Amino acid sequence: MSRPLRVAIIGAGPAGVYAADILTKAERDFEVSIDLFEQHPAPYGLIRYGVAPDHPRIKGIVNALHKVMDRGDIRFLGNVTYGKDLTLSDFRHFYDAIIFSTGAVRDADLNIPGIDKPGSFGAADFVSWYDGHPDVSREWPLEAKEIAVIGNGNVALDVSRVLSKHPEDMLSTEIPDNVYSELKRSPVTDVHVFGRRGPAQVKFTPLELRELGHVKDVDIIIDPEDFDFDEESMKQISSNNQTKNMVKTLQNWLLEEPTDASRRLHLHFWHQPKEIYGDGAVEGIRFDRTAVDDEGRLAPTGEVLDYPVQAVYRAVGYFGSALEEIEFDHKRGVIPNEGGRVLNVHEEPVPGVFATGWIKRGPTGLIGHTKGDALETIGFLLEDRLTLPPAAEPGEDSIIELLEERGIEYTTWEGWLKLDAHEMSLGASYDSNGVERERIKVVPREEMVTISRDFATKPRS
Ligand SMILES: Cc1cc2nc3c(=O)[nH]c(=O)nc-3n(C[C@H](O)[C@H](O)[C@H](O)COP(=O)(O)OP(=O)(O)OC[C@H]3O[C@@H](n4cnc5c(N)ncnc54)[C@H](O)[C@@H]3O)c2cc1C
Ligand SMILES: NC(=O)c1ccc[n+]([C@@H]2O[C@H](COP(=O)([O-])OP(=O)(O)OC[C@H]3O[C@@H](n4cnc5c(N)ncnc54)[C@H](OP(=O)(O)O)[C@@H]3O)[C@@H](O)[C@H]2O)c1
Repeated sequence: MSRPLRVAIIGAGPAGVYAADILTKAERDFEVSIDLFEQHPAPYGLIRYGVAPDHPRIKGIVNALHKVMDRGDIRFLGNVTYGKDLTLSDFRHFYDAIIFSTGAVRDADLNIPGIDKPGSFGAADFVSWYDGHPDVSREWPLEAKEIAVIGNGNVALDVSRVLSKHPEDMLSTEIPDNVYSELKRSPVTDVHVFGRRGPAQVKFTPLELRELGHVKDVDIIIDPEDFDFDEESMKQISSNNQTKNMVKTLQNWLLEEPTDASRRLHLHFWHQPKEIYGDGAVEGIRFDRTAVDDEGRLAPTGEVLDYPVQAVYRAVGYFGSALEEIEFDHKRGVIPNEGGRVLNVHEEPVPGVFATGWIKRGPTGLIGHTKGDALETIGFLLEDRLTLPPAAEPGEDSIIELLEERGIEYTTWEGWLKLDAHEMSLGASYDSNGVERERIKVVPREEMVTISRDFATKPRS
């Protein structure tokens, strides 16, 4: 093949950007030309629409991804959705290889009675709201004084921290204006976080757990009874430093006297959700108390516990979404694959189609882990290079002509730079008693597109 290999990567979260970067830098004796597609007008996936606004240290990763994209050898095409704007045959027509890096953007199900009641929410929806996702409502019903959060992962920590933190302490972050205003109205006094297993089995990470202890005017309440460790827990604590650290953090909080703070964060363990009850909307949540049985399995003890709450947030994991014309594992929420080579219904590799990141592996792990996924996937793509089905129209302009023909208002890297600069300037011009804001996110999709495509927009006053 004397022309460059044309590769489409679908999904501009960290996995997609890393895959593009690794392919660009890989040792090879042929040229590559990469287009990175994204359904949102802006890049970065869950870094923009998942990572909590009060976690600015993640900015370091964004800076690294920015540098990759800013080199100019990867073309970003935003506001283009696979399965809606372009089909698999479109991609097949214009590219020799396609990599799906579409992540996981929705909540895993929790099948308990009452889960659909008004006042019962998925953490992913709440996260999308507080991170200013363009496709979710600007309003969020923050009417509950007492709230339950189910799950003992980092998303549960993010959600309970954002729910309990005083919004003034987040004003300097990039929280959207509407989120700040609504959080200010929240009457919350108590947030209860429930894990179905014990303190030695939490899926938190130590830094994120410790952070809870620094939230101003929020007392952490823990029940000493939850720290009666079984043999397996003792083994886990002594063999894993991370677990040991987290158990120590929790035990230190046990010793602290409450400060009479205006809000409280209760951490409960050994609580398996059983039912959300209420006459209409959520009025409470019922749990089976659990313990490890003689065979080392988690089992109900027979004790049933009720907590009166007016809202429930389930943070029991994210889940991938099926993609048109691509096989999907509905149990695991991933595209079936072998090391990133996408498989068909007969479990055979589909020539020229690959997957990376959370849609390849499932929704666990940090941003950095998606680099490893990309390395493996790109390795197989390079191995398959001579058998990839060649594109019919490999010219770089052809796909742009098609997008324009279909009236798709795609955004570009230059467009993102404009939007990025605009958001920073909104932050810089914000004036509230000396609080500095680095960025104010533009939330409505149309406004994001308009600014990115450089049509006349009035900056907000
Ligand atoms: C709430 C939350 C907070 C987190 N906070 C942290 C943190 O602080 N630190 C950390 O290290 N990790 C954090 N993580 C984990 C981290 O976000 C993931 O490891 C990482 O984002 C996974 O990368 P990905 O590229 O596979 O998926 P994503 O980041 O989800 O990117 C997938 C991209 O594909 C796009 N896409 C989906 N479908 C289509 C389609 N049909 N057409 C076009 N584009 C499509 C999506 O819009 C998205 O931009 C967090 C995760 C969550 C859920
Ligand atoms: N700041 C950060 O670094 C940050 C922030 C957010 C997310 N992340 C990362 O993103 C990934 C996803 O995080 P996550 O919190 O969504 O997932 P997670 O780490 O897998 O945690 C999910 C939690 O939900 C519980 N759960 C699952 N099903 C349940 C059920 N039916 N009933 C009760 N509890 C149930 C799990 O309990 P069991 O353990 O018993 O299954 C676990 O405690 C993780 O790797 C996380 O570290 C990182």
